[in-house]
Amino acid sequence: MNENIKKVIRFTSIYGPSRTFTKIAGRMRFGPLLNRFQPKKQKDISIVGCGQFAFSTICYFLKKEYGNRFLSCYDIDIKHSQSLGDFYGFDHVENSFTDLLKRNPKYLYIASNHHSHAEYAIEALKNNIDVYIEKPVSVNIGQFRKLLAAIQQSDAAIYAGYNRPFAKAIIDIGPYIKNKRAPLSINYFISGHKIESDHWYRDSREGTRICGNVGHWLDLTIHFFALRDYMPERIDIDIAYSSQEEADDNIAITLTTDLNDIVTIMLTSRSEPFEGINETINLQCDDVIVKIDDFRRLTLWQGSNLVKKRYWPKDVGHKRAILQPFTTSIQNKRDWNEVELSTLLMLYITDMVLNRENRGSIEIQKELDNIKQQLKNNME
Ligand SMILES: NC(=O)c1ccc[n+]([C@@H]2O[C@H](COP(=O)([O-])OP(=O)(O)OC[C@H]3O[C@@H](n4cnc5c(N)ncnc54)[C@H](O)[C@@H]3O)[C@@H](O)[C@H]2O)c1
Repeated sequence: MNENIKKVIRFTSIYGPSRTFTKIAGRMRFGPLLNRFQPKKQKDISIVGCGQFAFSTICYFLKKEYGNRFLSCYDIDIKHSQSLGDFYGFDHVENSFTDLLKRNPKYLYIASNHHSHAEYAIEALKNNIDVYIEKPVSVNIGQFRKLLAAIQQSDAAIYAGYNRPFAKAIIDIGPYIKNKRAPLSINYFISGHKIESDHWYRDSREGTRICGNVGHWLDLTIHFFALRDYMPERIDIDIAYSSQEEADDNIAITLTTDLNDIVTIMLTSRSEPFEGINETINLQCDDVIVKIDDFRRLTLWQGSNLVKKRYWPKDVGHKRAILQPFTTSIQNKRDWNEVELSTLLMLYITDMVLNRENRGSIEIQKELDNIKQQLKNNME
């Protein structure tokens, strides 16, 4: 059987037909299609960065839930903004980010290259536009400080595209870990996309794969720490590199904490996984033992209690993450403080990888408090 047909069949069995269709449309960029038949709605959502994720995931879930509320889109590649605009029925395809802001969207989604996220978010916050930034929210500490300052000075809301905490499997294990106040052992094995060394994700200016990919599991770890209501003060970091030339890939990162937590993240990308990224998570906290197989299956043991669940379509939490700006339920909105902590940890590890360091240590809450105090002093 032809490989492409095989892929369509396999993806349909994992993600369902409509999402698979949209993923294909995103790659092939065909349209205009759907918008012709849609009733007119209030147009208040704009997007910057019209690549594959904007097409196949962000706009897909927004449209599915709220119909066509798409106002403006902008990308440095006009073919990308034009094709996204045609397919989803955006009112305007803009020539610049400034033009996009001039339309006064209520919500801005940022899905461009990683280095541009913070700058776009800061501009939007200054204009009191609610912002949803795809991960990462910053790629260096200078950007992060400026972003934190902008958040302090704006009345607008901010959300991050770290979706794993919104995966149904993670939500389902939440009650078992909640308020446990016991050490965590976690192992993440990630078979990631094969990304060539000259791809923009790998660029040091873009924060490498640490900001591009590893940030997801650092963020999920902080979420687990927060769930069990017990945040470590100090995190020690050990990194093993399989290659000094490609330090941000085929890498193992171990975190140990002053609360006796131990966490390992192994990212491996020796070949392209046919079904896309695949993750296995094993976790233990007190009497709870958990296995999550690619967000498709969950097994949980608590003493003699056994819980087994399956998730179809595969649920990595994209829908709930993307719909955060519209939900009124506080449980469906991420605590932004967790994102700040995980970003600080990610930026620290990114620097370690850029400098090929093997050992490091960070007191994340203390560092974050210091930065915020300095920003406050500067404002007074
Ligand atoms: N949460 C997730 O699971 C997940 C998965 C995939 C991608 N993403 C995120 O989505 C974002 C986009 O990734 P992608 O896979 O769509 O990549 P992509 O390369 O397909 O798209 C990036 C788009 O941004 C545009 N762009 C580049 N620089 C720009 C700039 N300065 N201003 C405006 N547009 C610019 C490019 O032309 C391109 O169209 C990234 O932040 C990525 O990390 C998240």
